[in-house]
Amino acid sequence: MTAPAAPAMTMAFDSPLPVSVTPRNLRFASQDAKGRAWLGGDAVGTAVFNALSLTFPEGERSFMDAVRLHKHLLSGRLLEEAGAFIAQEAIHSREHVALNSQLDRAHYPVDSIEAEIRRRINTTRERGPMALLSVTIALEHFTAMMADLFLTDEALFAGAPSDVARLWQWHAMEETEHKAVAFDVFVEATKDWTPAERQRVRVKVMRIVTVLFVRNITHYAARLLEADGMNPWVAHARVLWYLFGKPGLFRRAWRCYADWYRPDFHPWNHDNRALLEKWRPLFGAEAEARAA
Ligand SMILES: [Fe+2]
Ligand SMILES: [Fe+2]
Repeated sequence: MTAPAAPAMTMAFDSPLPVSVTPRNLRFASQDAKGRAWLGGDAVGTAVFNALSLTFPEGERSFMDAVRLHKHLLSGRLLEEAGAFIAQEAIHSREHVALNSQLDRAHYPVDSIEAEIRRRINTTRERGPMALLSVTIALEHFTAMMADLFLTDEALFAGAPSDVARLWQWHAMEETEHKAVAFDVFVEATKDWTPAERQRVRVKVMRIVTVLFVRNITHYAARLLEADGMNPWVAHARVLWYLFGKPGLFRRAWRCYADWYRPDFHPWNHDNRALLEKWRPLFGAEAEARAA
């Protein structure tokens, strides 16, 4: 039986916690990542982070478009946050393009991986603005889970050039700041749906995104390792161990991941504002915000 339609809301949806979203137009010395294993000589870790970075420019452009395509439905604080979200993702995209340009394209299949990423994202774009937004909120959940880990476990970047570590930590901090923005836009854009309909779509999309995201990141990282001469089976096994064994980039966030499937899920149910308080001063945000 279908649940009765929820009454239409006339007010813009607000996140349950007041978290400011501040774009910081920072640049990093990504040229320090030049070379085959910038993550402290760890070839597998380097390949996983490079694979993630390769997905960001095109992926984040699609997140920006997903929010932009629904901006006409927004007002008040959420409209302002949507603008800040787009500004943050644009700068992230720029910095990851710079980082990705350090990869030796004659040695690694970067062009082919980027073409595959573009093709996949275009397939989602062709399904329309709501499909793009629902995929965006699922991927933003993955990003927020990883961001929490990157800000919590500084040892992950031990051995990385300091500015490259800072790039990932700055990105993680801003992903944490804006982790609810696309979600709140989705709630606003679907305010005429029943809660059951919204839940059904969220669950369905997350199941698909989980399979594809994990599979694709594993595949891209393994291809980078294969270019260094690693056996394909070994490469896949070692990447999967990095993601689900040690250090367990995806494994360690499973509780947060599972929360997505709760009917009352909201990104700020996992309240990690303490991480923002710790990291924001390191990137000058608080000082800038106060000076403004
Ligand atoms: Fe981002
Ligand atoms: Fe994001």
